[in-house]
Amino acid sequence: MGQLDGKRVLLGVTGGIAVYKAVELLRLLVKAGADVHVAMTPAATEFVQPLTFRELSYHPVAVDVFEEPREWKMQHIHLAECDLVVIAPATANTLAKLAVGIADNSVTTTVLATQAPIVVAPAMNSGMWENPITQENIARLRQRGYHVVGPDSGFLACRTSGAGRMSSPEDIFAAVVEVLTRQQDWQGLQLLVTAGPTREHVDPVRYIGNRSSGKMGYAIAAAAARRGADVTLVSGPTALTPPSGVRLVKVWTTQEMRDACVKVFPKVDACIKAAAPADFRVAEPSDQKVKKEAQAELVLRLVPNPDILAELGEMKQKQVLVGFAAESQDLIKNAQEKMRRKRCDLLVANDITMPGAGFDVDTNKVKLLYPNNQVEDVELMDKSRLADLLLDRVLLLIKAR
Ligand code: CTP
Repeated sequence: MGQLDGKRVLLGVTGGIAVYKAVELLRLLVKAGADVHVAMTPAATEFVQPLTFRELSYHPVAVDVFEEPREWKMQHIHLAECDLVVIAPATANTLAKLAVGIADNSVTTTVLATQAPIVVAPAMNSGMWENPITQENIARLRQRGYHVVGPDSGFLACRTSGAGRMSSPEDIFAAVVEVLTRQQDWQGLQLLVTAGPTREHVDPVRYIGNRSSGKMGYAIAAAAARRGADVTLVSGPTALTPPSGVRLVKVWTTQEMRDACVKVFPKVDACIKAAAPADFRVAEPSDQKVKKEAQAELVLRLVPNPDILAELGEMKQKQVLVGFAAESQDLIKNAQEKMRRKRCDLLVANDITMPGAGFDVDTNKVKLLYPNNQVEDVELMDKSRLADLLLDRVLLLIKAR
């Protein structure tokens, strides 16, 4: 039996030098038992003939959106009915189109029509990859739940070195298997996720806040919803698009976040507290805008906010409780102490001084701490992949209850 028996995969191939590696990816998918249909952009066919993909997939290759269909079904709708779409290579141009919903060829029309999970393997010159426009597009696709594999760094076709080389067919294949085999394993389970910062009023126009972007919590909520969980996302103010299929509760202050969590917590199987609630609030926020005249200095008195995680730790019955710890020194020692104090079953610790970890970046580098002092070192990865890894661990804990 192949790993992908019975799975229908659409391979979208767009125009870049890495098209030849998509042939190998197709071979791996077919060998694993998948029924693979291929759609190519006209530019992709300039690099490798559709014939190669047709022979290896045993299906006609979709290139021309207007061609006479072999079966009476509109081409893009027919192709969109699959278990997974993988686009390899995904050019900067295609990623930009996907980010805004342009549908002008057989690959982009199919992606716009599909309900299936989507894996993209970007491939381009490092200047194009590092361009803020491409980075914004990638961030937007990630927020929508796309799985992004790579790109790797190394020697590029343009004879320079840098980031932009498409990941190996083996790595892309592994990501496809991971996404397909995880599907719906959270079905029937309820999850509470918190995300983002909170804001504490100083006066009607000012607040005290922090640098949390909410990206980690949103990635967890999106991944859990994709895997079939019933998700409540309690979120402080963020600039992110809410993931589809989750119940969003918007809050502003730590007290509001606490109230929303305490209400939902008794019903859930697990709670992941990725938010960064403010530990203190202003004791006497002003009803009127504070004026700078008539005061040489402004002193704000702060009083402690409730510690939501600690309170949920007290309330805990059968729920699996996961905390985060952002530390800048003595990571393990501080995090272990936090885990015990807040009665967590798993603690995600990150050293916010490390490059690629912590606030407002798309990647994270964490250690997972368990109550028996076990520490799991997780490699640097993008937040959506980390979200899935965390959900794997939490699911094991739920099943072990
Ligand atoms: N947390 C919480 N309520 C708060 C503060 C934090 O629920 N008022 C949660 C966070 O969501 C996170 C965990 O506690 O899951 C740890 O947050 P962190 O800011 O690292 O810890 P603190 O307890 O605030 O400790 P310190 O700031 O002293 O490191």
